[in-house]
Amino acid sequence: MMQTLNLVDGVWIPAQTGETFDVLDPATDEVVARVPNGGRADAVAAIEAAARAQPRWRSTTADHRAAILWRLAASMRTQTDRLARLMTREQGKPLAEARGEIAYAASFFEWAAEEGKRLHGEVIPAPTSDKRIMVLRQPVGVTAAITPWNFPAAMITRKLGPALAAGCTMVVKPAEQTPLSALALAELAVDAGVPPGVLNVVTGDPEAIGAAFLEHPAVRVLSFTGSTEVGQHLVARSAQTLTRLSLELGGHAPFIVFDDADLDAAVAGAIASKFRNAGQTCISPNRFLVHHAVHDEFCARMLEACAMLRSGPGCEEGVTTGPLIDDAAVAKVKAHVDDAVARGAVLRCGGEAVRPAAGLTPRFFAPTLLEGVDGSMRLSHEETFGPVVGVREFSDEAEAVAIANDTPYGLAAYFYTRDHARVWRVAEALEYGIVGVNDGAPSTARAPFGGMKHSGMGREGGRWVMDEYTEIKYVSWGLG
Ligand code: SIN
Repeated sequence: MMQTLNLVDGVWIPAQTGETFDVLDPATDEVVARVPNGGRADAVAAIEAAARAQPRWRSTTADHRAAILWRLAASMRTQTDRLARLMTREQGKPLAEARGEIAYAASFFEWAAEEGKRLHGEVIPAPTSDKRIMVLRQPVGVTAAITPWNFPAAMITRKLGPALAAGCTMVVKPAEQTPLSALALAELAVDAGVPPGVLNVVTGDPEAIGAAFLEHPAVRVLSFTGSTEVGQHLVARSAQTLTRLSLELGGHAPFIVFDDADLDAAVAGAIASKFRNAGQTCISPNRFLVHHAVHDEFCARMLEACAMLRSGPGCEEGVTTGPLIDDAAVAKVKAHVDDAVARGAVLRCGGEAVRPAAGLTPRFFAPTLLEGVDGSMRLSHEETFGPVVGVREFSDEAEAVAIANDTPYGLAAYFYTRDHARVWRVAEALEYGIVGVNDGAPSTARAPFGGMKHSGMGREGGRWVMDEYTEIKYVSWGLG
């Protein structure tokens, strides 16, 4: 059974126009389901439901809200297999990864449930004895979220968990490619006791729904995960209403392997971070910078490791690399590889998308290794969002850091070294919000996730995420 209607004010409803759109399995192009093609009117109805629910929800205790979030997380964990299979069908990622994402997604509810209890205020010594100064943290009110297709569950719970824990209500607009995971989560939320209007989900037209989020005065925060271009557009559009934005945008992560690195660890980290979700991850390494002394050895080991990967439909046991999300994604990855080869890079494996078996789409981009990458190539400047490892040599630490920082993006960076002094030097020098030192998998609900420069504004995860969904109020109390 799958939920295919929108959730507005606790009621499952079609789009006001009655229109629907197809959700396709990227591995086969089969229609998995049809969901409402909502627009502005649907978004406004959801925002107004969230506004009506807001006063009552904010007046509940943090403990009450936490209990609901824990129940919701527990039901996600109990139903991991069902949710993971649904995610694999609409998104394509291997089942093992989808199961991992459900656990990751549930951990955001669990973390936020407890953080909501720690929204402490402060009492500040006043400048005169007849006053007291208090600082309160209060929920911002109605919030909205626009979430991406690459992590159909975790990018919702990372926003929804802290919003609900803080006492805010929310309207979620999931990606058109992956609305079913969002609707399944919303069903579990209703069963866990999230009251009508506190969570609303509207699927459909991103332009119309996004415009309603930005223009409606009730919406106090819009949280978006997606491309830098769309993030810039939202910033421009928010100028009139001054809606607070929380933005997790594009990345272009460097992955630096120094000459003193543990190469086994570096290769394992590179494979884990680069091929997770077929490279369709904002924190996926996009530029491999390898010291010339270990370059040949690193590349030889990467070639062996790539040969162990298996492309295929995510629902098949043993598959490590699923399809890319659509034909445009395949075309972009191919263009990056072709551009690199045309400019002198050497293709060691992969390089094109294949159709692993009859009945499947030709969207399975083979794990690809390129050597001889240089700064002139597109993959040195643009996010590839695919399973491509492009290796560029460097000679010293200063050069590696300079290349790593030579980008407008600043989401995640990785480096491998055994030198403790270098760990501090390089970690401090990298202009990135997340730095993995000898660690290709830094994501966790407990730490702040977010970027510098064109990679976004604000942080999700850890205690910092609560700042996105709360206002600071200063109360000056005259004692009379
Ligand atoms: C993303 O790609 O935006 C999220 C990745 C993560 O949370 O690890």
